[in-house]
Amino acid sequence: MCGIIGYTGPLDAKKVVIQGLEQLEYRGYDSAGMALQTEDHHLLLMKEAGPVAVLKETSREAKVRSHCGIGHTRWATHGGVTDTNAHPHTAGKVTLIHNGIIENYHEIVERFHFREELVSETDTEVAAWLINHFYTHSEKGPAGNPYRALCEAVRTIKGSYAFCVLFEDIPGKVFAIRNVSPLVAAASSVGTFIASDLTALISYTREYFVVPENHVVVLEEERARLLDLEGHEVEPQMLEVNWDTEAAQKGGYPHFMIKEINEQPEALERTIKPRLNGGLPDFSEENIPDTLFTDCEKIDIVACGTAMYAGMVGKSLLEPMLKIPVSVNIASEFRYEQPLLDERTLTIIISQSGETIDTLAALRLAKEHGSRILSIVNVKGSTIARESDYVLYTHAGPEIAVASTKAYSVQLAVLYLLVCRMALVRNCMTEEEAQSFIEELLKTIPAIRQVLGDLTPCKHVSERMVSARNAFFIGRGLDYAFSLEGALKLKEISYIHAEAYAAGELKHGTIALIEKNTPVVAIATQEHIFAKTISNIREVKARDAYVILITKPGADVSSEVYDIHIELPELSDRFTVFPVAVILQLIAYYTSDGKGLNVDKPRNLAKSVTVE
Ligand code: M6R
Repeated sequence: MCGIIGYTGPLDAKKVVIQGLEQLEYRGYDSAGMALQTEDHHLLLMKEAGPVAVLKETSREAKVRSHCGIGHTRWATHGGVTDTNAHPHTAGKVTLIHNGIIENYHEIVERFHFREELVSETDTEVAAWLINHFYTHSEKGPAGNPYRALCEAVRTIKGSYAFCVLFEDIPGKVFAIRNVSPLVAAASSVGTFIASDLTALISYTREYFVVPENHVVVLEEERARLLDLEGHEVEPQMLEVNWDTEAAQKGGYPHFMIKEINEQPEALERTIKPRLNGGLPDFSEENIPDTLFTDCEKIDIVACGTAMYAGMVGKSLLEPMLKIPVSVNIASEFRYEQPLLDERTLTIIISQSGETIDTLAALRLAKEHGSRILSIVNVKGSTIARESDYVLYTHAGPEIAVASTKAYSVQLAVLYLLVCRMALVRNCMTEEEAQSFIEELLKTIPAIRQVLGDLTPCKHVSERMVSARNAFFIGRGLDYAFSLEGALKLKEISYIHAEAYAAGELKHGTIALIEKNTPVVAIATQEHIFAKTISNIREVKARDAYVILITKPGADVSSEVYDIHIELPELSDRFTVFPVAVILQLIAYYTSDGKGLNVDKPRNLAKSVTVE
């Protein structure tokens, strides 16, 4: 949550900051602000509630010559969405932007008597006053030392933070420090940069480093210095961006979401094909030993939102195949449930961003209990990836739209590869069976292309959906796992109340909500429970629901049970999730767009949830 950009160098800082904020806006779009150090060493502060476009417009007038500045897009946590609560916050000589949550801000206010100073309702302003306090009254040496002020402040602060700070009397330098919340930095021929993620940096450089936790970064015009809390200079570990600027732009599509939906076939190819050896999944390039799979007696999958729903598909495949307990856990609940974890538990963490705080906390807990951690992550070098014992990267490229689409498909693809490898090395599948499993997996790629080649059925459904207040997604077994993701997609971007239900469970209460024309998306792709699902669909049809039925091709189904029938490309039952996911994403997309909503930036949401 919250986007951060800092810059110093020869370019026009206002332009760099605004452009960076536009790239980062998907992280939070309640308000935006920036602070620029002018050439005559003044500090110009501009901040506005509303999207970056509002700040861009108001700042157009400011004829400022600046080569050093910081900028922020906010996702509100402490304090409402107002100009005053927008970042940056100034306290004495310090101007600061922040991503994260200061848990002990109240205690800091009392202990340092800041109450009278505060003008906003934010925890961030408290941090600004604290840093200013240590800058102007250091207990450990002469005042006016920015490095020491930051170190002393973070020793007092409890919580997660990424701070970028300008000191009034230190021109041309940006200081930063982080704990949990992400920051990446880079030095290039056009200046030095720091940001909450790479999307803001890639137009300037391909080389970057992930700022280690509790290290101070000092951006100077030609280099980014890194110091640990003992004052030692640390050599940053440089990484290279493996995608280009175009991948982080809309490329002619009206929204990132539809672009990302269309990128799924290529993303799947990138994720699956390099991991095949003789038609079988092989993780040796990633240094994942088979003993990881043969030694475990239990698997815990932990994730949030869409990633968790991908995990539910994984469980439905893994458990019957391996015949060991597999659980799927909501990351935010996991650590409060006293999970039974030990060194025989394999914890599979799934996260697109690799920064979701609840998922990260679950990972740390599992590790403390001796469980081995295998993570499925999209963002290279992210915190979850770094803290895991083993990582399988998904190769979706940058996912910018808040609604996750291509990240879900590639998470599924990695789970399918894992299922196959685990079943093979645990002798639950023969080599021939594993090869034909992979052949089926590869067929999902042309199947998705086929769905993307004819958008008419999904557009047709969405025309009906736009006027709905409630919608239901039903299915059984694997189809139920797909329904959960379909309902999440619809509700998060179209604001239609959507519920996913196991089709057989509906009559135990929820069916009371079915009225004339309530849309029910019924997924019936699993042969062994097909007849039962159709009976459940008849139950809602009898209550005048508007049924959108998704089946495999040639399914034996009477036209009385549906209003719209979408047939999938031919695939065997275990693989239907791939085209079904794309159909459900398209329905959600066209519904949101049809309602004239902000598809890529739905209200109240942020792309990466770095607060608990
Ligand atoms: O980055 P992560 O995969 O850890 O994010 C998890 C969820 O926040 C995310 O999947 C969220 O549910 C999406 N907005 C859903 O489209």
